[in-house]
Amino acid sequence: MSNRTTAAAVCEVRNLTVHYDVSATPVVAANEVSFDVYEGETLGLVGESGCGKSTTAMAMLRLLQTPGRVAGGSVNIAGVDIMRLRPAALRDFRWRNIALIPQGAMNALNPVMRIEKQLADAIAAHADTGGRQALRARIGELLEMVGLPADVRRLYPHELSGGMKQRVCVAMAVALNPPLVIADEPTSALDVVVQRLVAQSLIRIKETLGIAMVLIGHDMGLMAQLTDRVAVMYAGRIMEIAPTDILFKAPLHPYTQQLIDSVPSIRVKKPLRVFPGGPPDLRNLPPGCPFEPRCPKAITICRGETPALKACGEKQYAACHVPNTNRNNI
Ligand SMILES: Nc1ncnc2c1ncn2[C@@H]1O[C@H](COP(=O)(O)OP(=O)(O)O)[C@@H](O)[C@H]1O
Ligand SMILES: [Mg+2]
Repeated sequence: MSNRTTAAAVCEVRNLTVHYDVSATPVVAANEVSFDVYEGETLGLVGESGCGKSTTAMAMLRLLQTPGRVAGGSVNIAGVDIMRLRPAALRDFRWRNIALIPQGAMNALNPVMRIEKQLADAIAAHADTGGRQALRARIGELLEMVGLPADVRRLYPHELSGGMKQRVCVAMAVALNPPLVIADEPTSALDVVVQRLVAQSLIRIKETLGIAMVLIGHDMGLMAQLTDRVAVMYAGRIMEIAPTDILFKAPLHPYTQQLIDSVPSIRVKKPLRVFPGGPPDLRNLPPGCPFEPRCPKAITICRGETPALKACGEKQYAACHVPNTNRNNI
């Protein structure tokens, strides 16, 4: 893993805001979300369930379904703002420039279609395939790349294990060599041993192809091992973003500190920390920092003013009012 924060950005997300119009007051599931994804890096996007990770991913590809809608912001890739593309151009742009492995992707494979046909359709829908032979060869290449035997092409999804189905989804996502893949909890439906294998093979593939990846998840242990940088989300906002080694050694945001402290360790003996409370109700957020009700370090200003994400050190950004929120002070 390398620290690539000096590389060029392949994707710039700016002030991305998503509303779910479910009542008179919308649920703001992504709130002024801004971050860059650098060429070739793996950026982790972490946070408890319901904090807006999938919403952000879907919005980045403009794949949100009603009642969700992008209420503001931009997503720039190769000088193009995805939010401004017309529908036909958008279909053309996706998969070539940004591909998504959606949450639960492996369960979305068509149960009555052989793997080969599913891969062929995905490729043919977005690219000039250069004829049957070339398409067959490309499918063979893709299966090999994700570590599946060649005869998998003739099988149906139900004949594959969970890990194998997930590898097929990875093959689909990288089929057109996009510079950026977003993988939304790609391993969470798998058992623990397979999880690690699939995640490692995903990283190997992205390194081989030289593509960047946003890896969404909540397993901080896996994130520490697999990512170059990590963005921490809470209540639809980015609370902290930093290179992985810095984030784990010196997390600034009390929420990041709690996420890290709640990971059980077999190497370091430490008291088991119970992570108090749950994610907030997005329709009824407190007026200041959304984490304030759960924050052990909250001060008066936290109750009244929402902190902006600001530079707190080289390459480290945090949205917190508490000065020097270093873990040693807990
Ligand atoms: N279809 C929907 N209708 C209304 N609200 C939704 C819908 N999908 C998601 N949300 C809201 O958006 C929040 C974030 O959801 P999601 O992006 O799936 O979180 P995560 O992926 O981090 O678990 C949820 O807590 C929920 O309040
Ligand atoms: Mg999700």
